[in-house]
Amino acid sequence: MPSIIALVNQKGGVGKTTSAINISASIAKTLQNQNSTKRVLLVDMDPQANATQIFSTTTDNDISIYNLLMNYSNTKSAKSDVNITKLTQSTYIENLDICPSNVLLSSADLDLVNIHGRETVLKRIFKDNEDTLSKYEYIIIDCQPSLGLLTINSIVAADNLIVPLKADVFSLTGLELLLETVNNLQSVFDIDSTLLGFFFTQVNNRESMFQESFSLCNEYYGSLLFQEYIRNNVGIDHANAMDQSIIDYDINCTAAQDYLNLSHSLINRLN
Ligand SMILES: Nc1ncnc2c1ncn2[C@@H]1O[C@H](COP(=O)(O)OP(=O)(O)O)[C@@H](O)[C@H]1O
Ligand SMILES: [Mg+2]
Repeated sequence: MPSIIALVNQKGGVGKTTSAINISASIAKTLQNQNSTKRVLLVDMDPQANATQIFSTTTDNDISIYNLLMNYSNTKSAKSDVNITKLTQSTYIENLDICPSNVLLSSADLDLVNIHGRETVLKRIFKDNEDTLSKYEYIIIDCQPSLGLLTINSIVAADNLIVPLKADVFSLTGLELLLETVNNLQSVFDIDSTLLGFFFTQVNNRESMFQESFSLCNEYYGSLLFQEYIRNNVGIDHANAMDQSIIDYDINCTAAQDYLNLSHSLINRLN
């Protein structure tokens, strides 16, 4: 089975989607450079579908991960012939595929609520499709900014969790709630998802606020904090506008180099 990594933080705007896009692209590039035939699958579990907009032409009228989730929940809104093979699309990056999201996913939290096994739908999808998924070395999940059922499904399905933190004064608030939630899920669902670590995004490393947050986090969480962080870079918005990862848009810019370094460190932690 591939290594399944979810980017979680119930806060919005911390860099989950940007990191899901660029970590996926970085790892895919690395596999490409190694002439590996293994692939990366990006699973978009955010109804805002921003990662989907970069890598796919899926619209709100197309099938999305919503239909697959509903299929596994046997609800009326399911389109019965949707399976993971049908849903998965290749992207402009050679070793990267995507399971797209769209606006339909915004009703999933409600649609799933009365379903037996509602927290384990994504995990069951991965488990039942082991053969199809064996071509992937990594599955990266982009989560929505809440601790709702979609995020819980992602945490339960993942082997590893990584948490982006925005380098601001509120960066560490909410972190304890997230850790508590993960702990509860681990005990209730008997899962072995590991918190791989935190990393800072949108960093201005000359700002004392960042330096304080970084050393505070280092002190409290020790080796859980990645020493690599992602600097603030206007290239991120330009790359988004061009529907590209920052690695493809400008590999020499700070954020591209930062994502390549972080991804390298991430893979080292996994091994
Ligand atoms: N390193 C960065 N430099 C500049 N802007 C960034 C950077 N990382 C993220 N952003 C911007 O911050 C905003 C929120 O990021 P996003 O990844 O969508 O967060 P989340 O998915 O956690 O809500 C986006 O507009 C994105 O373009
Ligand atoms: Mg997002």
